[in-house]
Amino acid sequence: MRYTTLSTLASFSGLASALTPAQWRTQSIYQVMTDRFARTDGSTSASCDVNNYCGGTYQGLINKLSYIQNMGFTAIWISPIVENIPQSTADGSGYHGYWAQNIYNVNTNFGSASDLVALSNALHNKGMYLMVDIVTNHIAQASSRANFNASAVGAPFSNASMYHTPCDIDYSNQTSIEQCWQGSNNVALADLRTEDTNIQSLFNAWLSQLVSNYTIDGLRIDSAKHVTPSSLSALQSSVNGMHFLGEVYSGDPSYLCPYQNTITGLMNYPQFFYTTQAFQSTSGNTSTLATGINTMKSTCKDVTLMGSFLENHDNPRLPALTSDQSLIRNAVAFSMLQDGIPIVYQGQEQKFYGGSVPYNREALWSSSYSTSSSTTLYPFLTTLNKIRSWAIKKDTAYITYNAWPIYTDAQTIIMRKGNANAQVIGVFTNRGASAKTATMTLGATNSGLGKYQSVMDVVACKSFTTDSKGNLGVTITSGLPQVFYPTSTLKGSGICSQ
Ligand SMILES: *[C@@H]1O[C@H](CO)[C@@H](O)[C@H](O)[C@H]1NC(C)=O
Ligand SMILES: *[C@@H]1O[C@H](CO)[C@@H](O)[C@H](O)[C@H]1NC(C)=O
Ligand SMILES: *[C@@H]1O[C@H](CO)[C@@H](O)[C@H](O)[C@H]1NC(C)=O
Ligand SMILES: *[C@@H]1O[C@H](CO)[C@@H](O)[C@H](O)[C@H]1NC(C)=O
Ligand SMILES: *[C@@H]1O[C@H](CO)[C@@H](O)[C@H](O)[C@H]1NC(C)=O
Repeated sequence: MRYTTLSTLASFSGLASALTPAQWRTQSIYQVMTDRFARTDGSTSASCDVNNYCGGTYQGLINKLSYIQNMGFTAIWISPIVENIPQSTADGSGYHGYWAQNIYNVNTNFGSASDLVALSNALHNKGMYLMVDIVTNHIAQASSRANFNASAVGAPFSNASMYHTPCDIDYSNQTSIEQCWQGSNNVALADLRTEDTNIQSLFNAWLSQLVSNYTIDGLRIDSAKHVTPSSLSALQSSVNGMHFLGEVYSGDPSYLCPYQNTITGLMNYPQFFYTTQAFQSTSGNTSTLATGINTMKSTCKDVTLMGSFLENHDNPRLPALTSDQSLIRNAVAFSMLQDGIPIVYQGQEQKFYGGSVPYNREALWSSSYSTSSSTTLYPFLTTLNKIRSWAIKKDTAYITYNAWPIYTDAQTIIMRKGNANAQVIGVFTNRGASAKTATMTLGATNSGLGKYQSVMDVVACKSFTTDSKGNLGVTITSGLPQVFYPTSTLKGSGICSQ
């Protein structure tokens, strides 16, 4: 049996055993863009032309896993690993990994197949997990769409009958989204007929080998809305028991949520949009965020199995939209502590501020991997990972308890996740760094706090006590977020010297 329980896993650490969706729930993911994370020699001075390969490798990543683990992350998601087209085109090169030409070979720019095995082993030896990004929507070729030549594609996709006829995607037409071609006339992204069972069988057979060859623990599915739902279900069944995070790029819960009936999890794109609009400026709307969170909960099968992210390699980073460090901290803390698996994209901890693709794909080594509290968010993220994993440890129900807004006003949203005496209460605001002090009272009914109960704001390590009715007076200073946790339950955690 490949998919074992957590207790068996612990005793066979390092052996092949993918994580189940329930096991992924409790992880915290750091998103690595393999070409941009670390070079084999660990050098930090190399320049990076963001349109082309910059030299990151699996060996470089292995050497820097402690940087990720010490921030509290328990898993990494890496770029697609397969051989990409070698050309440098007017659209750049395949450094990102999404331009496959042969799915049975590895992308040797990142290292050999045995280097990838070594990465997987190194992660498992540290008690960490590997999520790999896969693309089933298309095969790339450095040609115009009209000149795409299926015979020149590596096996098994060298037959023209395996592809849809080229057309431009009409995003108001789902058939067109599934059948027309992504990419451009510099790089054809030939759209595979994923509705055909022979195509599905080829991917399913490939995937079970891939998972086994590299001891993969979870999968991120690229372009999920561009393939047929039936192909997603088939892919999920081929490695049944594994967790998938599908990329359905949409802010609409009614469009996105049904995909969770085909695969176990999705990137929480609607939450990403609500969070970004709420915290990108002091005129953002926290009510839209509160409503959105509730809509996601009631529309999707299980938001606790989704990826909760604020930044990724496809969207402008939040600091490209605001330089206000208080707004940024609120957004970061909000997405780390919501339902689902937190995902932090490399460079977020370094306050990188790249805008649209490819400028949001900076080489991480330019930061020299600093962990400074004055110039990076590294210690802040470490604290957030610590309180989340402590809350999970103290109450197993924490992870499946659906977070809900227990207080909102025009510029505040207070979220509760967890049962009484083990609840995390996050106070988030978009007042901004230059705001005046604001105060509010948090009622005991919603917070679940008792009378004269002591809580710690684990961000500032400041303690507060509720009144005789269990109400908590909250003071927001400099627009900073606060994360309260019952002091008695914090004992033994080491957090804030408790
Ligand atoms: C298509 O690719 C095949 C295999 O590389 C090659 O033999 C053939 O000449 C190509 N066709 C065209 C029209 O370029
Ligand atoms: C390509 O696929 C078609 C339809 O399945 C089949 O008739 C044809 O023989 C295939 N061509 C090659 C070269 O395999
Ligand atoms: C939707 O897209 C498909 C595929 O391109 C096309 O055949 C169909 O006519 C389109 N439907 C509408 C209503 O435009
Ligand atoms: C898995 O490894 C086997 C044995 O080395 C190899 O034949 C196969 O092509 C590999 N499959 C993938 C998807 O990497
Ligand atoms: C915020 O959004 C809510 C609905 O989500 C709306 O009723 C309200 O007017 C908005 N407030 C502002 C200041 O835009």
